[in-house]
Amino acid sequence: MAGITDSDFLNKVIPYGFNVATLGGYSLDSATIEASKKIIERGRKEFDFSLDEIFTHIENEVNSIKNVHGDVKVSANVRSTTPQPIIEVGNIKNLDIVEINCHCRQNEILDIGCGQEMLNRPDLSDFISQIVDNVESEVSVKIRANVDGTDTLQLAGLIEDAGADYLHIDAMKKGVFEADWDLLTKISNNVDIKVIGNNSVNSQENLQRMIETGVDGFSIARSVISGNLDFNITNF
Ligand SMILES: Cc1cc2nc3c(=O)[nH]c(=O)nc-3n(C[C@H](O)[C@H](O)[C@H](O)COP(=O)(O)O)c2cc1C
Repeated sequence: MAGITDSDFLNKVIPYGFNVATLGGYSLDSATIEASKKIIERGRKEFDFSLDEIFTHIENEVNSIKNVHGDVKVSANVRSTTPQPIIEVGNIKNLDIVEINCHCRQNEILDIGCGQEMLNRPDLSDFISQIVDNVESEVSVKIRANVDGTDTLQLAGLIEDAGADYLHIDAMKKGVFEADWDLLTKISNNVDIKVIGNNSVNSQENLQRMIETGVDGFSIARSVISGNLDFNITNF
């Protein structure tokens, strides 16, 4: 979560049972950094690092987690208009997963063709495979489901074919306050890429429903902001 999930935050919540910790989202190039500044100006939290400092900052943050929780995989969720800065992050020593953010829906990010708008890029497949082919880390692609004008199942296939290791999917459904469980089940049944289900895992019941979709893993965002998960995530 932009402006929130730094190494201090993650080191506190990992002991609840997480085996992957995601830093960021970070903006990596001039266009996304400028967009982040505008988002901050209107009062929303964002990480605010210049081009000169962002790569070293991420490296230091990765090590701050690894030094405390050496057995946890560390991921960095990142935004960029071109693949090269993402490749640079994917080659940071000790980083396990670089996650391409095709999910953010803040207008300033959408206006430069980034975040969720990436799902409409005709060269999305090439963008992902350039990263896959040039990084030491694993590659995750984080998408939002049910975005107008997109076919989520088709996108899942495209991301698999582009060679990514993980499809991280916020299974949001308009007008509903829970994940789109049916869509997650359909995707799990139709792709071989590892699927990480996300959205509304905020109770034992919803965790159970998430597991029943057949996903390979799940992620939790809002319920960890308090650092106080009151349901057990460790028997997945
Ligand atoms: C304050 C806030 C900031 C977020 N920032 C990011 C981000 O930088 N990158 C990203 O991929 N998702 C971001 N998200 C989305 C969450 O990671 C997650 O996909 C979404 O909240 C649904 O999952 P949940 O129901 O477990 O919260 C953010 C969510 C919140 C509430």
